[in-house]
Amino acid sequence: MTKPHSEALCDAVVTLYETGDLDDERLKWLIDADGDVAEALFAHAQRRRQQWYGRDVYKRGLIEFTNYCRNDCYYCGIRASNRCVERYRLTHDEILTCCRVGYELGFRTFVLQGGEDLSFKDDELCALIRDIKAMHGDCAITLSIGERSHASYEALFAAGADRYLLRHETANAEHYARLHPSSLSLAHRKACLFDLKSIGFQVGSGFMVGSPGQTVDYLVEDLRFLQALGPAMIGIGPFIPHRETPFCDEPAGSLKRTLNLVAILRLMFPKALIPSTTALGTIDPNGRELGLKAGANVVMPNLSPVEYRKKYTLYDGKICMGEEAAQCVGCLRRRVEKAGFDLVVARGDTQVDGYEARR
Ligand code: SAM
Ligand code: FES
Repeated sequence: MTKPHSEALCDAVVTLYETGDLDDERLKWLIDADGDVAEALFAHAQRRRQQWYGRDVYKRGLIEFTNYCRNDCYYCGIRASNRCVERYRLTHDEILTCCRVGYELGFRTFVLQGGEDLSFKDDELCALIRDIKAMHGDCAITLSIGERSHASYEALFAAGADRYLLRHETANAEHYARLHPSSLSLAHRKACLFDLKSIGFQVGSGFMVGSPGQTVDYLVEDLRFLQALGPAMIGIGPFIPHRETPFCDEPAGSLKRTLNLVAILRLMFPKALIPSTTALGTIDPNGRELGLKAGANVVMPNLSPVEYRKKYTLYDGKICMGEEAAQCVGCLRRRVEKAGFDLVVARGDTQVDGYEARR
């Protein structure tokens, strides 16, 4: 199909803004839009985000508590068969200390992320969740620990976990098989997401932009899957190669496509909590600021102890490896404010009322 002229594509942006949806063909054009059309996309995404969240940007304290993983995702630096990784697990007390430090710094959400480390049994995780909630009852706990059983998810929710991040990675089964070994399936990943939602978690999903073999048609499938799931949070970031993985020679995902997709997601999912990811900040020094300007409203600074950070290298060149949590927050605050937003102290749940209505 010949490319529609920019006036027609700007009209498509308005349709997306007004209806929250668009046909596949025009979505594909917007995913690679530039110039005036990209500007229109970002301006409308900003307006939509302003309506629900004003200038507020929420910070989530990321605690990378284990880099043991039973999986072998081809893109991931901490995959099981990467023998160069020095493996670690934070202790219960180390994790509580991260939360204590984070609370003092104004964090009201803690994200416990790790590889699929089966040595963390449900009982241990539930005790941890209960202890964090006892210390910081005004905080939300987000888990990002991969695929587990229904019983496990139920126990974690009952213990007090509020949210769960599980990116679907790609909604196309063939593409999923290109990125993962045969022990992992898209069907199971999707089933976990619907399971988490039915249990009552605020669910987050998402995908990497520019993962090997990804096409623009697959990206539209990703958007359609997210429409079917209806997540509270959507995390996307560029794929970045890691030298010790099978994808070491693959190119990283593009900044432009990632930003365009952030804006498209904001227009399709007005109330979603969308992070401006560390991966975005890794491929471009201003990546996180640009992500916020494209419609993102969350940042996720690292609260993990500095001595463990280098051991949780998902991709090469990951930023913020050496700074203490306080330095990270100070740096991010300056960046967020310079971009025209406010870094707030709040749990940052999905909005029910529009921003103006809450003032
Ligand atoms: N094990 C949990 C899971 O599977 O959901 C959480 C940890 S996993 C490392 C978190 C996310 O990192 C993945 O969902 C993936 O999208 C992202 N990731 C892994 N390797 C990456 C890479 N090379 N480039 C960009 N993002 C990557
Ligand atoms: Fe398990 Fe990446 S392969 S966290």
